[in-house]
Amino acid sequence: SKGTYPFFMLKEIDEQPIVMRRLVEKYTDDHGNIVLPEDLLKALQQADRLYIVAAGTSYHAGLVGAPLFEQLAGIPTEVHVASEFAYHQPLLSKHPLFIFLTQSGETADIRQVLVSVKERGYQTLTITNVASSTLAREATFMLQLHGGPEIAVASTKAYTAQIAVEALVSKAVGEAKGLQAAKDFDVIHELGLAATGQQALIDQKDRIHELATDMFKTTRNAFYIGRGDDYYASMEAALKLKEISYVQAEGFAAGELKHGTIALIEKNTPVVAIISDPVTAARTRSNADEVQARGAKVLHIAMASQAQDGDQIVVDEINPLLAPLLTIIPAQLLAYFTSADRGYDVDRPRNLAKSVTVE
Ligand code: F6R
Repeated sequence: SKGTYPFFMLKEIDEQPIVMRRLVEKYTDDHGNIVLPEDLLKALQQADRLYIVAAGTSYHAGLVGAPLFEQLAGIPTEVHVASEFAYHQPLLSKHPLFIFLTQSGETADIRQVLVSVKERGYQTLTITNVASSTLAREATFMLQLHGGPEIAVASTKAYTAQIAVEALVSKAVGEAKGLQAAKDFDVIHELGLAATGQQALIDQKDRIHELATDMFKTTRNAFYIGRGDDYYASMEAALKLKEISYVQAEGFAAGELKHGTIALIEKNTPVVAIISDPVTAARTRSNADEVQARGAKVLHIAMASQAQDGDQIVVDEINPLLAPLLTIIPAQLLAYFTSADRGYDVDRPRNLAKSVTVE
């Protein structure tokens, strides 16, 4: 039940720190080692390329996962939208392993891919919130998100749980391979930082509500911009705003703006800049300055080490590979308050269903 919450979405946003801690508990032993099924660990070590296949928010979690698998586990990784991959497959590597990220485990576009790659004898791993689901049963391997039931149509805690599980799995594979980058990545500590940092943001709800009013109260369009993981978080942030508040929003690669899209910026166009990645922080900030100079109303979401005076939302420090675990929280809340204040049924947006079982 939603208890005293007006909507499930707000309850599910609030549950994210608990889910981070629960995942550490479920995936590690008393010695702090990550526990994965032996045969899955072996299959992942033998894979020469990972194909993450997913839809919507889960696809966005896959985009954040790819650099984890590449940098910690040393496996080249591609991320694909399921409905595209189903009919336009790229040339596959010799020993591919398919990862299906899916909250519901029932997404028809993914099942289409699963059936076709199984026919060709490839190994598959479903990472899902629903252990009894179709995609959980039909894949070679299954890992759980342990998020607890997600009722609101707009996915929140499943997104952050997917990123956390991708981090745990990449760390385990990289360690099994003896890779230094994996040894140096203290995933238990980082997920602890994620839980604490998420809670700190959730505790600023009232202020984020005010920012939502200021930025989005009456707007018909909006932009989220960033680079790397900040771009991937921007795509997810924009999807949240679109699906529950019906604001036309775009998550955009900050550096691409000047190649055309900046033409859309006019007086008071809302632009949220996500700035966590130390490598590109200065460049994204200057892109934000450019749109501000053209009249945009800019909100900065910055990680502590990259923050400057005047940034409205500052998130705690975390390994940059996991930044979206924190930067997405204010974006979820901004979308939530925009929808609620416009009087919409936040949990049940128009035209959408919780699991998409048609292609
Ligand atoms: C957005 C949302 C959808 C789902 C997508 C995939 O908030 O919920 O974009 O993420 O339909 O669903 P699953 O993860 O169940 O495969």
